[in-house]
Formats: sequence, structure tokens, C-alpha cells
Amino acid sequence: MGVKLKYNKLNLLLLLMPLSLMAAEMPVSVPLDIENIATITPWKRNNTWSQIDWSNYNNLQHTVKKPVPVIQPITSSIKANPANGKKLVANRKKGNCVACHILPDVSQPGNIGINLSFIGSWHLPDQFLFNYIYDPRIYNPNTVMPPWGAHNILTTDEIKDIVSYLKTLTIPVQFKKRPIPKNNVDNLDEFENPAMFELETGTDLFIENCQKCHQNPKASFAKWAVTMPKFETRLNKIIGIEEFITRHARATTGVKYLLQSGENIALAIYLRNLANGQKIAVDTSDVNSSLALKRGETLTQTKIGQLNFACTDCHKKNSGKWIRGQYIKSFTGMIDHYPTYRSGRDAIWDFSTRIQWCNLAARANDLPPDAAEYADIELYLTVQSNGRKFSVPGFGP
Ligand code: HEC
Ligand code: HEC
Ligand code: HEC
Repeated sequence: MGVKLKYNKLNLLLLLMPLSLMAAEMPVSVPLDIENIATITPWKRNNTWSQIDWSNYNNLQHTVKKPVPVIQPITSSIKANPANGKKLVANRKKGNCVACHILPDVSQPGNIGINLSFIGSWHLPDQFLFNYIYDPRIYNPNTVMPPWGAHNILTTDEIKDIVSYLKTLTIPVQFKKRPIPKNNVDNLDEFENPAMFELETGTDLFIENCQKCHQNPKASFAKWAVTMPKFETRLNKIIGIEEFITRHARATTGVKYLLQSGENIALAIYLRNLANGQKIAVDTSDVNSSLALKRGETLTQTKIGQLNFACTDCHKKNSGKWIRGQYIKSFTGMIDHYPTYRSGRDAIWDFSTRIQWCNLAARANDLPPDAAEYADIELYLTVQSNGRKFSVPGFGP
């Protein structure tokens, strides 16, 4: 009922809108199944990933009210266990300070944060050191650094051990320059990129299910993929190629190629591959798309998870730097190769899988792949790549 009402109101709005504003929306003549949900329901997180529930923390859909950060008073000099502190700063599950800060005796420290290798010689007050680690938002509301104490990652005693360790550090260690990682794999070589097999699968699926209505896909879909994602009036949200496939295939052939299924990803690779070499040209001039673009931008600035990270903390404020051994890319050029093969996980990921993974990396709950929030972010990131050429399927670490 609710959806129907929205749809009617929207139709009315569209009628009142000048035609030129509707350019980037999907034509209503394209058959789409809008009755059913495009994913497995209820959605279940990938069972090979961490199953920890992070619902105590913000995610891209929910904000959890947390107390305003306050200074924890430190009245006497901190003298705890520096040897344990040294272990904690390199422990991935605990401090992991070396992901962002240069500290002695670690290979490949990151350089997002300041160089802490000689922080002991700065003679900072213990209360400042303790509280910067407990909750850096006290000093810098927009900090990139997680609130280790306030979000229960480190205990008060552990933070005291780290403070004791930091106070012993006086000899500067320099950040060693590293080459920017280059992808030496030809992503379109079937012997090098396993995702090329899925291009074959996608081609076969197209011939089997779609060819009867689309006899000449090379010509008719030569540019279609570079115009996606688009606003879909009937669903009142942005949809990408993957969701289009699920809904269009079900409406025209009855097959159930749910989001993130093998068939769905294979057809997404096929349709995008048809547009390889074309420049991304997503048009957001209509009202609905421009609103979605704005929402997408805001979502990339939203702090989520136990680690309190926004996408922009890494990919905008710190692109070109290193988080431990990983080089951080800027938003531009991030998704022009999706779906992509990830050699480190031996799996082909579409964009929704990637963003779910990024959500878990912030220790925030992921959303279902058809979430409107993901589609808005996909639109925003795709627009950051407008003008760049498609090369699908991709290959990456
Ligand atoms: C995700 C990256 C990141 C991680 C992980 C991180 N920090 Fe930071 N840290 C920063 C950044 C960036 C700054 C610079 C100021 C800011 O953004 O708040 C900073 C600032 C600091 C400062 C303030 C120094 C000063 O003089 O202003 C201290 C102390 C500090 N970090 C200690 C730690 C410790 C200890 C850990 C591990 C428990 C840690 N950091 C983990 C990013 C990080
Ligand atoms: C029963 C006929 C039929 C079948 C089967 C069919 N389609 Fe379509 N398709 C249409 C019609 C009608 C349109 C809208 C007019 C047009 O663009 O040709 C369309 C449009 C499209 C578009 C362009 C959408 C846009 O935004 O303009 C794509 C891409 C597409 N189909 C892909 C597929 C794929 C992939 C399959 C197989 C899973 C498929 N179609 C199966 C009838 C069909
Ligand atoms: C703590 C830093 C950090 C945050 C926060 C972060 N990312 Fe990332 N992201 C990375 C790193 C490092 C990589 C590269 C390593 C890899 O490919 O796994 C990456 C990779 C990616 C990629 C893949 C790029 C490619 O070429 O395949 C996408 C897309 C992406 N991030 C999007 C996002 C989005 C969207 C958000 C916010 C929801 C986000 N990231 C938050 C660090 C971060």
C-alpha cells in the first residue's frame, strides 16, 4: 500500500516536471519485476566472513546514540607495562596503531597518522596521551583515529600500557618510501584473470535467455552500461546493473537471478564488457538522481562502526598514503572495473560485495545488496569516474 501511494505521488510529480529533467531515468517501458525483493530474504551475511554483530554501532542505515566524549582525568604519572604496550600497538585485533603511525621495530608501518616513533621526546602530558587514545574526538571531532577506549576496543589498563610505551620512544624512525602498487596482470587475458570464465558464462546465459528479444546486443548495448546506475521511478530509488538484471530477467523470462548469485554476476560482467572502452557517462541532471548523488556523497562522509570510519577518512583525506601495507586509492577510478576478481579471496566481487566488505572493515554491520544506501554510494562513486573508460572484468589483490 505504502509503496503504491509513493509511486502515485511520484508520477504526479513527474508529470509536473519538464521533460529535460527526466533524461537520466530508466524508461518506464523497460519491463521490470517490481513486486519481488531482488535478494535472498531475509538477507544473510556471506558465511565465510566474520559473523560478529556490530549493531551497537552506527552503520549506513542506523545511528546509535552514544554519550558525548568526556576527558578521563589522570591525576598521577602513568607507570604501567611498556613491554605489553609495545605488543598492543602492533596487534591487529587490539591497538593496531602501526596501521596508521610510524613506530619502531615494525615492518611497513602506515603513514596516515603522524610519526610517533619519537613521541617520548615531546613530553606530552599523560592526561593528553591517555585521552587521545581513549577518545581522540575530545580534541578533534573529525579525527580519523578510532576511539579505542570509548568504543571498548582497549581497556583502560591496556591504554595505560601503551602510554607507558610511547613515553619511552625518543629516536626518530623515518617512513621508507614504497613504490605505488602496479597491476601487472592483463585483466582481459583469460589465462590471467579467472573472471574471464564468467564472461563466457554470461555470454551463454544471454544467448539462452535474452537473445530472443535482443538480437544484436553488441550494437544495442554498446553504451548502456556506462550510463548506469540510474533512478528507477517504479522503485523510487537508484538501481545498478546487477539489480536491473534481477528485475528485468524475472519480468521477461521468469528466471530468478538474485543479487550476488553466480548468474547475476556473470550477466553483469557480460553487459559491462559490451561497453568496454566506452567512457563512463552517468547523467545526474534530473532531480531524483541529483538528490541521490548528494545522499551518496553524504553517506561516504558518515562515520560508522566500532572503528568510527567514514569512507572519506581513507579515500579522500588520505588517498595516496598507506594503511600498513595497503595503498589507499582516491574515489576516482575505483569502480570502473567491477565486477572484479580478488586474487586474495579467490572470488569475483560485484560492487555491493565490495562495499559490504568495507563496512565490516570499519566493524559496522553490512546491508543487503539492494540497499538504497549502497545504490546512492555507487552512483556517487561512478560519477567520480565519469569520463574514464570501462575495463571489465577487473583483477585485483
Ligand atoms: C586509522 C588511523 C589511525 C590509527 C589506527 C591510530 N591513529 Fe593515532 N592518529 C591518527 C591521525 C590521523 C592522527 C592525527 C590527528 C587526528 O586526526 O586526530 C593521530 C594522532 C594521534 C596522537 C596525537 C599526537 C599529537 O601530538 O597530537 C596520538 C598520541 C596517537 N594518534 C596515538 C595512537 C595510538 C596509541 C594508536 C593505537 C592504539 C593510534 N594512534 C591508532 C590516525 C590513527
Ligand atoms: C521478452 C522480451 C525480452 C527478454 C527475454 C529480455 N528483454 Fe531486455 N528488454 C526488453 C524490452 C521490451 C526492453 C525495452 C526496450 C528496449 O530497450 O529494447 C528491454 C531493455 C533491455 C535493456 C536496456 C534497458 C534500458 O535502460 O534501456 C537491457 C540492458 C536489457 N533489456 C537486457 C536484457 C537481458 C540481460 C536479458 C536476459 C536476462 C533480457 N534483456 C531479456 C525485452 C526483453
Ligand atoms: C580505514 C581505511 C578505509 C576506509 C574507512 C574505507 N576504505 Fe575502501 N579501501 C581501503 C583500502 C586500503 C583499499 C585497498 C585494498 C583492497 O583493495 O582491499 C580499499 C578498497 C576499496 C575499493 C576497491 C577499489 C578497487 O580498485 O577495487 C572500494 C570500491 C572501496 N574501498 C570503497 C570504500 C567505501 C565505499 C568506503 C566507505 C563505506 C570505504 N571504502 C572505506 C581502505 C579504506
